[in-house]
Amino acid sequence: MTNPLRDPRDRRLPRIAGPCGLVMFGVTGDLAKRKLMPAIYDLANRGLLPPGFALTGFARRDWDRQDFAKVVYDSVREHARTPFREETWEQLSEGIRFVEGTFDDPESFERLRHTVEELDEKRGTGGNHAFYLSVPPSSFPTVCRQLADSGLSKPRQGTWRRVVIEKPFGHDLASAKELNDVVSEVFPSDAVFRIDHYLGKETVQNLLAIRFANQLFEPLWNSQYVDHVQITMAEDAGIGSRAGYYDGIGAARDVIQNHLMQLLALTAMEEPATFEAADLRMEKEKVLRAVRLPQDLSTGTVRGQYAAGWRGGEQVGGFLDEEGIPSDSVTETYAALRLDIDNRRWAGTPFYLRAGKRLGRRVTEIALVFKKVPHFPFPIDSEAEVGDNAIVIRVQPDEGVTLRFGSKVPGTSMEIRDVTMDFGYGSSFNETSPEAYERLILDVLLGDPPLFPRFEEVALSWGILDPIEKYWSEGGRPEWYRSGTWGPEAADAMMALDGRAWRRP
Ligand code: BG6
Repeated sequence: MTNPLRDPRDRRLPRIAGPCGLVMFGVTGDLAKRKLMPAIYDLANRGLLPPGFALTGFARRDWDRQDFAKVVYDSVREHARTPFREETWEQLSEGIRFVEGTFDDPESFERLRHTVEELDEKRGTGGNHAFYLSVPPSSFPTVCRQLADSGLSKPRQGTWRRVVIEKPFGHDLASAKELNDVVSEVFPSDAVFRIDHYLGKETVQNLLAIRFANQLFEPLWNSQYVDHVQITMAEDAGIGSRAGYYDGIGAARDVIQNHLMQLLALTAMEEPATFEAADLRMEKEKVLRAVRLPQDLSTGTVRGQYAAGWRGGEQVGGFLDEEGIPSDSVTETYAALRLDIDNRRWAGTPFYLRAGKRLGRRVTEIALVFKKVPHFPFPIDSEAEVGDNAIVIRVQPDEGVTLRFGSKVPGTSMEIRDVTMDFGYGSSFNETSPEAYERLILDVLLGDPPLFPRFEEVALSWGILDPIEKYWSEGGRPEWYRSGTWGPEAADAMMALDGRAWRRP
């Protein structure tokens, strides 16, 4: 019975998925083990999955249901965010199934269809199923066609079928369009959920709250006050065991085309009419459409590759020493670009984006750096002590927001120095933030699309990146930078040319 006191629009109430199941392709991959399976367990543990939820793995492995359950169990024990509870695990594991098969074999998909039907009957999944493609993009077309041919992609009246697609969505605009054509032949657009896990991060969603739930920031959020914006995604880790994926892809395709472009769009867009998917996506697209590349790509973009150096206190080798990387690889592990946005709000305020592996620290942040005061009414030497005002959204780690401004140093003279004012999630809220994948998987099961980019956004981002990739591919190799530093010197030179400097977070 529905509770008359429950208002379905009340966003404080838990959002719980109705009867459904999830079929996962790519269960042996790193992402499935480190993020997806633990996220499913965490959702179950928080009571947000239906009691009859089913998780079906599909892979070319000689496994039975118990073997797959063990894989899920191990990944949960190692990576889940919430404590392990026997009863949660028992309930979840009852709904675990495994189908041994290959992507190009119609019979494997027949078996999958039987499994799904049996789940509907025995477990009450109600005909509602999501297919999670945690597989390389080259396999998307085959899997999508098999889902269509086996009838799995077609929902019966009153039920749903959805497909979840992991990045990379193509490697340029043309290949992204090809993929999209295949996917949209099989699934209608409202059944396609493209994952950009940055949109599932609390701090990224908080950007919308900061901008649009407050009166304080928005009046300053434009080129009249903001000198420039820096969006940084720095990682201290190298490529680890992902040589096969990373080589030939590089930093720009790996994270700028998706995560950083989305951060740029959310930072720069106008207020959407509502936070429904269509309105939000439209505002992001308007901004992406207004992005202009530097005229001279040789001075407005930089790419780098890590050489040997340090990570923490440990000596580490360079990118070319990584297992599986050819010794002549020109893949960039660092990329920096200047982008301008040709609209009234941002004309004259450049956005600088940088992303890299093996940098000084792991930190992702968006910094709005403000212009100088028009007149500085204090002794001239205190002006030298005062840096630029800044609003910094700390996406991770140490999630929060910092304001930086000048303040009087206690004493008898008018000395002014930079101080910071901090909001930290950890100290302001008791609850820990859910993992991005928890939020996104739940949204898929609820059919809630605002946090998933639609194809137009993906296409616009590739449209921005394609000329840069083309320019880079035409010659030369990336600049070197030592592991543990903040990237190649050329990146500092790029900023210096504009009379600016990168932040050292
Ligand atoms: C992924 C990239 O999308 O994001 C990885 O493919 C990167 O190369 C990762 O390491 C970083 O994610 P997070 O959530 O740890 O910042």
